[in-house]
Amino acid sequence: MSTQSTNVAFLIGTIAILSLIKTDCVAVKEYEKGFILCVTSRRGMQDHSYQNLTNVPSNLPDDTQYLDISHNSIRRLSGASFSGLSQLCCLKVTHCGLQEISPSVFSHTPALKVLNISFNDLPIVPDISLKQLKILDLAYNLYKSYRIPASFQNLANLDVLSLGSPTALSVNYNDFDPLSNISLSHLVLGAGIRWQKYDSGALAKLKSLKTISVFASFCGEASMFQNLLADVNVTGAKSLRIITLFPDNCNVTGNFFDSMKTMPLLKNLTIENTWINSSFMEVFMKNVWFSHLYDLSFVNITYNEDTPDGFQFRTINHSVNLCSITFNGVKHYQYKYPQINMSLEAFSNLTYLKFSGTGMNILPCNLLSVLPSLETLDLSDNLLKDTGFWWFYCSPTSVFPKLRRLYLSKNRFNSLSFISEKTNQMKTLESLDLSFNSISLDRDCSWPAQLIELSLANNILGNNVFNYLSVNFEKIDLSKTGITAITQKDLSRFPKLTHLQLSSNSIQVIPADVSAPSLLNLYVDQNAITTISKLAGLSKLKTLKAGNNPFVCSCDSYWFVSVLNKSLLADWPLDYTCSTPPSFAGVSLSEYKTSELSCEMWLQAAVAVPIFIIISAAIGLVFYKCDGVWYTKMLWVWIRVKRRGKKNSNMLKNVSFQYHAFISYSHQDSGWVDSRLVRSLEGSGFSLCVHERDFVPGDWVIDNIINCVESSYKTLFILSKHFVQSEWCNYELFFAQHRAINIQQDSLVFILLEPIPTDSLPKKFLRLRSLLRQQTYLEWPNTERKQQVFWASLKSTLRVADKSMVLKDVALAIADTATLVTDQI
Ligand SMILES: *[C@@H]1O[C@H](CO)[C@@H](O)[C@H](O)[C@H]1NC(C)=O
Ligand SMILES: *[C@@H]1O[C@H](CO)[C@@H](O)[C@H](O)[C@H]1NC(C)=O
Ligand SMILES: *[C@@H]1O[C@H](CO)[C@@H](O)[C@H](O)[C@H]1NC(C)=O
Ligand SMILES: *[C@@H]1O[C@H](CO)[C@@H](O)[C@H](O)[C@H]1NC(C)=O
Ligand SMILES: *[C@@H]1O[C@H](CO)[C@@H](O)[C@H](O)[C@H]1NC(C)=O
Ligand SMILES: *[C@@H]1O[C@H](CO)[C@@H](O)[C@H](O)[C@H]1NC(C)=O
Ligand SMILES: *[C@@H]1O[C@H](CO)[C@@H](O)[C@H](O)[C@H]1NC(C)=O
Ligand SMILES: *[C@@H]1O[C@H](CO)[C@@H](O)[C@H](O)[C@H]1NC(C)=O
Ligand SMILES: *[C@@H]1O[C@H](CO)[C@@H](O)[C@H](O)[C@H]1NC(C)=O
Ligand SMILES: *[C@@H]1O[C@H](CO)[C@@H](O)[C@H](O)[C@H]1NC(C)=O
Ligand SMILES: *[C@@H]1O[C@H](CO)[C@@H](O)[C@H](O)[C@H]1NC(C)=O
Ligand SMILES: *[C@@H]1O[C@H](CO)[C@@H](O)[C@H](O)[C@H]1NC(C)=O
Repeated sequence: MSTQSTNVAFLIGTIAILSLIKTDCVAVKEYEKGFILCVTSRRGMQDHSYQNLTNVPSNLPDDTQYLDISHNSIRRLSGASFSGLSQLCCLKVTHCGLQEISPSVFSHTPALKVLNISFNDLPIVPDISLKQLKILDLAYNLYKSYRIPASFQNLANLDVLSLGSPTALSVNYNDFDPLSNISLSHLVLGAGIRWQKYDSGALAKLKSLKTISVFASFCGEASMFQNLLADVNVTGAKSLRIITLFPDNCNVTGNFFDSMKTMPLLKNLTIENTWINSSFMEVFMKNVWFSHLYDLSFVNITYNEDTPDGFQFRTINHSVNLCSITFNGVKHYQYKYPQINMSLEAFSNLTYLKFSGTGMNILPCNLLSVLPSLETLDLSDNLLKDTGFWWFYCSPTSVFPKLRRLYLSKNRFNSLSFISEKTNQMKTLESLDLSFNSISLDRDCSWPAQLIELSLANNILGNNVFNYLSVNFEKIDLSKTGITAITQKDLSRFPKLTHLQLSSNSIQVIPADVSAPSLLNLYVDQNAITTISKLAGLSKLKTLKAGNNPFVCSCDSYWFVSVLNKSLLADWPLDYTCSTPPSFAGVSLSEYKTSELSCEMWLQAAVAVPIFIIISAAIGLVFYKCDGVWYTKMLWVWIRVKRRGKKNSNMLKNVSFQYHAFISYSHQDSGWVDSRLVRSLEGSGFSLCVHERDFVPGDWVIDNIINCVESSYKTLFILSKHFVQSEWCNYELFFAQHRAINIQQDSLVFILLEPIPTDSLPKKFLRLRSLLRQQTYLEWPNTERKQQVFWASLKSTLRVADKSMVLKDVALAIADTATLVTDQI
């Protein structure tokens, strides 16, 4: 290996200083961990932030999964604030001036997994014991110490804990004791201020930590920082993130990272939001050289050259472990290109290099061939043009000998044909990202055969773009490229295509004949697609993203909504809503139920038959249960009786009566009948037929009844519970045989001896029930006076046919049961 040192001059445009780190909008809730962990339906999400609330809203739906009440003035969370929200999984109460949390408040929310109460005024770390809790953010409050309450021992599932208060100035030895037995893997500690004290050993108790983020400034406190590093070493954490290490006016003395060479477990180091001088950098890089780090990142740093010759780094006779170096966001304090003089040979094992957000506009020539292992080069978000990157002014012997992935998004590249030509010099390049540039389709392209993945997202290209791509491409990203239509001809150019992203275009249909036999992933979300029909030509499809399209909720969507296996859809169901018809607008597609029945004619027929059978069976069952057979028989009888009625009535006209009345009663009521009724009526000169006395012995009881009835002017029924239970059936039979009833419809008299609740009667005694309902009967009264009236009415009834007493309807109806039984007998 040559030890010749290579001057690397990173030439950075002056604009760089201004165009630095772009703060991506983090407002999009959907990418929050809490959202991902918790939300399964849009309805479960309740956003009540920025509403000047002073209390937790009380009308929250029970199925709330995610509740955001940040940016209000809720000072207190008390007992019942969240009652009923048993599904609440993520709660955000930030920027509310929260001062107090009553311990019982979370007893109503056992499912809580994410709790964010950062940016409040909590004076102490509150008691929290929620078994399911995974993420707890308590940063930016006003507690004065980091002492964790004992209840935190119960947070068995806690994974990420964020603690920070600008008024907590020291970390004490016992502060984290309650966390020592839980499986916390990531601790974020501090509020970006300088600590006055760090007790050596405090963090060392957290044995399960994998990542530690220290958010504190250590200006001039090298020994405190070294104590901290020693504890990080004991925890065994692999990853350390240090945020706001040095402010701008800091006098850095001492060797901060000296101990890194004896920290074999630490692999990733990130230094973020800090000021870095070239003098510090020189010392720091020597420590990195001898450390065990794999991954070194600088994020959002301000770089200041305080050494006369810039960054000078003499070759060290030791190859470095480092595999990955990231610079993401570098502000240059001086308005000039930084001077960097270092040997890159020792970076022989570097596989990943990212130099992003730095304002770089020219790639140093010597970088092309000195990184023998480099596989990934990320130069996104710089100011590179075609002439600045593609070694216009260099004459390299080889160009990135092992490079496989090249990210050039967010630069100023222009000519696709020129780029395609140049990529032919990168013998191993497989993947190229040209998204967010100003790419134009000027001339035909000639892509190298090994290049199989290309992203042209966010360039204005149009429908012709497919003609400029290589037939070897397997993964193509054409999101937001102004495509309005795709055809089978376009796709058939790419026989090996496995991933196709067409998100955020204006495509209206996926052609029915679309065929891509090896396609695994297809993204067509955020287009103008109204329906997706059977994707028969995509037999291997594993993932489809088609959300945020204006779906029509009609039979056209039947296949998609009801047949398609939803495990195919990466963004189901959150991103799928109906757009038309207006009555369904906004309805989630997963809630829109189109039935195959209403959409397929042949099915309507196929379904109708079994349904008819089921309904018939159901009716049959009901019929059977409710004595339907009995009623049917009666109906049959009624029809026959009506036919015979005329003939029979003539036969009975000449009957002469032997008795005034036939008394029909239950044996149990014989006391009343003998002592009161018979005595009273016979005393008045009426002759009565009483079955115990006047029935002919040996005859069948029904015949006796019939004989008696036929030879009596009236028939008196003494109704009581006993009668109904024991005798009524006989009379049903009797009525069935009594043909005279058609004419002698006035001859029945009912006496109700005691109240009989109609509902207590069996349903099939329909006639009796209706009789009792209509109150067309004589009721035996309790008082002597009324009894006299009773006897008077009864006697007059026996003398004259009294229509009001004789129950025409009942009689007639019961008569309808005639002859069937006769026939059977
Ligand atoms: C909250 O209060 C501020 C000032 O009192 C007012 O401007 C704002 O419109 C209110 N916001 C809501 C959602 O009521
Ligand atoms: C908690 O909310 C704050 C403010 O919105 C946010 O910056 C922070 O990232 C959130 N914490 C977690 C763990 O999501
Ligand atoms: C943690 O567990 C050990 C042994 O299992 C026990 O001695 C210690 O008291 C526990 N610590 C806490 C804070 O529960
Ligand atoms: C880190 O721990 C190892 C033992 O695991 C020890 O040899 C080494 O000295 C420690 N380094 C520091 C900086 O404490
Ligand atoms: C960087 O160097 C400047 C002098 O150029 C000095 O004033 C400042 O304190 C230093 N800051 C750090 C963080 O090293
Ligand atoms: C930085 O600190 C050292 C020693 O503490 C001191 O000698 C030096 O003058 C300080 N430099 C500045 C710029 O304050
Ligand atoms: C450490 O760095 C590697 C390589 O960049 C990365 O894949 C890994 O996720 C990082 N680990 C942590 C815990 O940050
Ligand atoms: C970048 O770091 C500076 C301090 O060096 C800080 O003020 C600023 O907020 C940081 N920017 C981001 C986006 O974190
Ligand atoms: C770069 O460093 C080498 C020694 O490592 C030295 O010989 C050379 O002069 C330096 N170049 C510049 C431009 O400072
Ligand atoms: C560098 O390493 C080689 C062998 O690996 C050794 O011969 C040489 O003396 C070393 N040079 C220095 C300056 O350590
Ligand atoms: C560098 O990589 C080579 C193989 O590519 C390996 O043998 C060597 O151990 C690595 N060096 C270091 C310091 O990791
Ligand atoms: C859907 O596909 C998944 C995986 O491909 C499979 O496990 C699942 O059983 C399928 N579901 C139905 C209803 O076919």
